[in-house]
Amino acid sequence: MSEEVSKIVDSDGNHMVVKYANGYPFPSFEKLKDNLDEFKKWTPKPQDVFLFAYPSSGTHWLWEVTCMLIEGKAERLQLEKEHYMIENSSSKTLDSLKEPRVLNAHVYIEQVPECLLENNKIILISRNPKDTAVSWYNHNVADLETDYTGKFPAFYELFRVGNVPNGDWFNYNKTWWEWSKGRSNVLWVTYEDAKSDLKSVTKQIAKFLEIPASDELCQAIAQECTFKKMKAEKHNLLPFELRGDMSFYRKGQVGDWKNWFTVAQNEDFDQIWDEKMKDCDLPVQFTI
Ligand code: A3P
Repeated sequence: MSEEVSKIVDSDGNHMVVKYANGYPFPSFEKLKDNLDEFKKWTPKPQDVFLFAYPSSGTHWLWEVTCMLIEGKAERLQLEKEHYMIENSSSKTLDSLKEPRVLNAHVYIEQVPECLLENNKIILISRNPKDTAVSWYNHNVADLETDYTGKFPAFYELFRVGNVPNGDWFNYNKTWWEWSKGRSNVLWVTYEDAKSDLKSVTKQIAKFLEIPASDELCQAIAQECTFKKMKAEKHNLLPFELRGDMSFYRKGQVGDWKNWFTVAQNEDFDQIWDEKMKDCDLPVQFTI
């Protein structure tokens, strides 16, 4: 039986096709709900590594860096990348992947198996939500399955209240952050830090994963994973047939939101930030 699809409609009447899992809207991957239900019951191996992030935070980029570190080579891996994204894979597929697996997802904490939260190493990524909104908008208009043709102002109205695929940025990040505090099996990385010094972030990930990576290897991985190089080589997580020409490599910049947000939207978002983040010390570079 096919899974139920729903639509989010923006203020101009344009729709986005989504599927709900645990009450959260997700892009409509085939078998999304089945895959997430199976994942919740799945048992990873202790050496498997996980990257979780709200979409458009640089997940695919840091997944690539982490895979290279685990392989010990600054070489692009010839993997079927779509299988390493949990929303897109059944537990049978996950079981078939070479270990140790580096898996990524945009799932909420309650969608993750308890044993994984306790035993596995988890890398969490955050990005300035204004840049995330712009990137996620562009991604959704390029995603064939989402079928969205709206303009940014209408998307922004939905993003600010969390009514977009993958839900509320604040809820997503705050929940993971509060859970992660003081845990030794979690590393929190920001997109902006990776952008300003990818070699240092690569070293940080190596240290966290207890991989004895040399300075030269970290440097070589950082060079292999520049935006320019990855974009030119078009290493998308998901093949065109599956999701269309989505923008995993759109602009790769910090602060592009300034080209999209109006003054009023910016003021509005700053106010939302002040309200929602007043008791939260989430490591995200918001003021850039
Ligand atoms: P933009 O749309 O702002 O360009 P995710 O993988 O979580 O969906 O994140 C996608 C975002 O990460 C996109 O942001 C994409 O361009 C950016 N990105 C991907 N590879 C990158 C790289 N090597 N360096 C910097 N940004 C990168």
